[in-house]
Amino acid sequence: PVLDATGLLVLPGMIDSHVHFRDPGGTHKEDFLSGTQAALAGGVTTVLDMPNTNPPTDSREHLEEKLAQIAPKAVVDYGLYFGATDTNIEEAADLADRVAAMKLYMGSSTGSLLVTEFPPIYQHFSTFPHQKALVVHAEDEQSLKYFGAQGSKIHNQARPPLSAQIALSRALAIAEKTGRVLHIAHTTTERELELIYEARQKGVRVTCEVTPLHLFLTEEAQQRLGNYGKVNPPLRSSRDREALWRHFDIIDTIGTDHAPHTREEKDQPYEKAPSGMTGVQTMLPLLLNAASEGRLTVEAIVQRCVVNPIRIFALANKGALEIGKDADIVLVNPQEEYEITNESILSKCGWTPFAGTRIKGKVKQVFVRGELSYDDGKILVQPGSGRQVRYR
Ligand code: NCD
Ligand code: ZN
Ligand code: ZN
Repeated sequence: PVLDATGLLVLPGMIDSHVHFRDPGGTHKEDFLSGTQAALAGGVTTVLDMPNTNPPTDSREHLEEKLAQIAPKAVVDYGLYFGATDTNIEEAADLADRVAAMKLYMGSSTGSLLVTEFPPIYQHFSTFPHQKALVVHAEDEQSLKYFGAQGSKIHNQARPPLSAQIALSRALAIAEKTGRVLHIAHTTTERELELIYEARQKGVRVTCEVTPLHLFLTEEAQQRLGNYGKVNPPLRSSRDREALWRHFDIIDTIGTDHAPHTREEKDQPYEKAPSGMTGVQTMLPLLLNAASEGRLTVEAIVQRCVVNPIRIFALANKGALEIGKDADIVLVNPQEEYEITNESILSKCGWTPFAGTRIKGKVKQVFVRGELSYDDGKILVQPGSGRQVRYR
């Protein structure tokens, strides 16, 4: 059979290494079917799902339960994160082969996972296999409490860049001491990129992620979107946003931090409204559009969304259109233009901060392991067609 891709771009399936699909425990926001359907529609063929579910993925039992619950629902391939707690140091290390990475929250966000004290942080860094990815949410809890307690109703003042810098500096120092690899989730400021760059110069094995939210939106959008623009870490200044683009070579991965919350939840008063926005369906479109404007190359997208995630998370059967690897393929019409709408969002929560954004570059067909799974707006595969990834 011949695949006629005349006029289309042939890309490897995108790997979103940072999603929150809320299964189990938050399935009114998202479940593994709606989340992976949204992924497919966005040209994402592999997702790595975060552990801040309910219960959190923080023990062997919770990991098994989660795997059993999501397997019959997934329509793209998936791997799971294991969540660090104060006490699960040995258990995390024992389960390292079965997960994509460990996630350690140094600052509180959605869910109950949080490790702030030096002993458990240091022990996790030392004990979790040193070559296996350890991903940190780097915001410092003490300073978050302090600035939050100042009563600011402005999210980016309650969670200032200083909080991120403090946590990042701690994580880098402990990674240097232990000699382990470290991946920093959602970096948002120029200073963080500088700290990461300097650490690398000294030989610290640190990689980092940015999200499309922080590449395409600023605190101005937070004013406009209100609670719908509330996210941890917050949207930053346009200076910081421009710095992310200027230092793009320092950024290893783009992950969406897809964190759906219902309108009902977002419409509560500021203090009660949860943080996070959808993203898995709009990442590739936004990046393709940026490519059409000359902001980056398509090769740079593939590097950040396929090649580097495969390396950092040691994904065994995934490749960038390589012989012998899974045939995860996305066909894109680079000329087709359209507008992102809330109605087109397959995520259960049904909204996106990018509603109204004009896009040039449309996902037309998506193949997962050689099977045509998405065709011009239609999902063609049944729940359960997605498989767990394997690790090297
Ligand atoms: C995430 C969520 O809702 O799960 N929220 C967010 O604001 N980013 C959690 C996280 O990644 O910190
Ligand atoms: Zn986070
Ligand atoms: Zn997240």
